[in-house]
Amino acid sequence: MTPDASRASVDESPDVFAERWRGRFPILASTTYLVTHSLGAMPGTVYDKLRAYADQWATRGVRAWAEGWWDSPITVGNSLARIMNAPEGSVAMHQNVSTIEAIVASALTFPPERNKVVYTSLNFPTNMYVWEGYRRLGAEICVVESEDGVGVPTERLLAAIDERTRVVPVSHVLFKSSYLQDAAAICARAREVGALVLLDTYQSLGTVPVDVQELGVDMICGGSVKWLCGGPGAAYLYVRPDLLRALEPLVTGWAAHAAPFAFESGPQRFAQGARRLLNGSPAVPALLAATAGYEIIREVGVDAIRAHSIHLTEWLRGELSARGFSLPSPADPERRGGTLTVGLRQDEHGPAWVAALERRGILVDHRPGAGLRVSPHFYTRLDELAHFAETLSELRRTRSWAEHAGGTKAY
Ligand SMILES: Cc1ncc(COP(=O)(O)O)c(C=O)c1O
Repeated sequence: MTPDASRASVDESPDVFAERWRGRFPILASTTYLVTHSLGAMPGTVYDKLRAYADQWATRGVRAWAEGWWDSPITVGNSLARIMNAPEGSVAMHQNVSTIEAIVASALTFPPERNKVVYTSLNFPTNMYVWEGYRRLGAEICVVESEDGVGVPTERLLAAIDERTRVVPVSHVLFKSSYLQDAAAICARAREVGALVLLDTYQSLGTVPVDVQELGVDMICGGSVKWLCGGPGAAYLYVRPDLLRALEPLVTGWAAHAAPFAFESGPQRFAQGARRLLNGSPAVPALLAATAGYEIIREVGVDAIRAHSIHLTEWLRGELSARGFSLPSPADPERRGGTLTVGLRQDEHGPAWVAALERRGILVDHRPGAGLRVSPHFYTRLDELAHFAETLSELRRTRSWAEHAGGTKAY
């Protein structure tokens, strides 16, 4: 049976659905795991992937480079490409999104008539840090401010994208609030005025359906740490094939060369396809480990994951709101990613809540200005959310979270 043929039915009960996958994730036996927006649970098959990598190194030695290691940024990219309906050879793997934004920025120019970089104040900060630096090379950074800290109305973002815009590097789902931006409208507006879109799907791919061809998006980037359950060190860059041919990043290296093993001196001579986006030797173990996550995401199917996620987050929203909690993330599930945020009161210390929940076997996290971030994934059961809701009520009633004040957990 092909992986896609075994996709779960979205009609089965959420608990039956979740139960089908739970046994594949060791940590679910010992915790209520609601922190996928930060680090997805590890599939047990990662052990097999890393053992195979070590065996290959141990037994094949240097020959391993020609037996898969050198090509891994592209072959692993192909495995991921299927989750976003990208053509083979259009995705290159890198270590992280910060590097990818720097690679893309280094392939662009910023003449006065086409120098605007447009994003919102709720973009993930690492992306801002990269683009801000390009002021030095003529970029004009246009930040569309959020008024409520949750999102920016699409019309305001679209109005900022004009004929002077070079690139729109924005998140699909905002990391703090889980606000799901209208990627189709952003791409359409950018196309109209000749601007490029670099969509960061770190917080969407694996839980929200993404189809690069349907969107007509120019570029997509993200990492595998969260909803793809692929672990750190495996970030992806998709570039639309006809745009790919024209990109010549200044952040480059010998892996992007048309003939890397000819060791030509002089200027770069770019390879064809996504290979031209590479730079140096790949982080092979991280890339191979990540395929464990992609395989299970493809097997479950993102449409089924999304249906399960909406069912669970809607249930939890109703339950927590009945218990008197505020829920700052968008109420409309169509405008929300896989995470729900739970507001805390002024005198309630977020990190202490996280520590108190951890003590009770429940993993979530906290972001200043956002509250607690809570993420069911396809492996989450309803009774886990019921237990979480009951625990939150107990913590507020007894103020026992205060016993953990002063904790400095960073995740
Ligand atoms: C939307 C988004 N972009 C980027 C990142 C991280 O970037 P990097 O891969 O450079 O660590 C995160 C991490 O939380 C994120 O949520």
